[in-house]
Amino acid sequence: MSVKKTVRDILEMKQESMRITMLTAYDASMARLLDKSDIDILLVGDSLGMVVLGYESTVPVTMEEMLHHARAVSRGTSQALVVGDMPFGSYQSGLTAAVDNGVRFMKEAGCDAVKIEGGEEMCDVVRALTRAGVPVMGHVGLTPQTAGQLGGFKVQGQNLESAHRMIADARALTQAGVFSLVLECVPGELAAIVTDSVGVPTIGIGAGPSCDGQVLVINDLLGLFDKFTPGFVKKYLDLAPHIKEAVTLFREEVESGVFPAEEHTFKSKVDLSSMREN
Ligand code: KIV
Repeated sequence: MSVKKTVRDILEMKQESMRITMLTAYDASMARLLDKSDIDILLVGDSLGMVVLGYESTVPVTMEEMLHHARAVSRGTSQALVVGDMPFGSYQSGLTAAVDNGVRFMKEAGCDAVKIEGGEEMCDVVRALTRAGVPVMGHVGLTPQTAGQLGGFKVQGQNLESAHRMIADARALTQAGVFSLVLECVPGELAAIVTDSVGVPTIGIGAGPSCDGQVLVINDLLGLFDKFTPGFVKKYLDLAPHIKEAVTLFREEVESGVFPAEEHTFKSKVDLSSMREN
């Protein structure tokens, strides 16, 4: 039987210089496959909105949508730590709402922790959640829920002022109690400094090799999301054209009568010939 990872295990991986792997998952069957591949953390990311639900950004994603998918991921997971991504609006309106929503991820969806986006301004939320027993993963650099304020989807920390601010944000969030920090779209050199400045693991996405771990959106890794591919993505498979090819073949074979063939057809155990009308 596999043993479920804990937040403490993830923290210890940094102390033992072990690289952490994290992937997004949105349903039980994918979660089962990733879990069996020994991925350390499954993130039910609000990227769900774009890669699964067809929204243009992560902003419209609701708590109910997140909980629905997080429950499915939890059901498919036996060893990985499951982190639920708190959607936009679920932790910005006040500490009570933030704690209530964080608790829902654990009680109703079986998550082990939650993730929130933002820097120093989110420290009160981190403290309130951790005090309530909800472990928190932070997320700095490019924060998609507020990408508009950051000038769009671009690399962050590209001037000295914003680089200093990112280091200060990472330190403040660590002091407030996060157990790990996602660094998204951060120059490799700055990610290395942030990683050395904090006692908790950093998990990079478009943040170079010096982070303590790496995360990718599973649909990007598998080449399933063909609307656009960020420059930091490595496609380990390119499934989209294969899916299109397989589905086109299915359509052609149904239309021409090739599928289903005899081997796909059940045989009746009784003689039905008398039931045929002439
Ligand atoms: O929602 C998501 O998938 C994320 C990852 C990109 C870290 O936040």
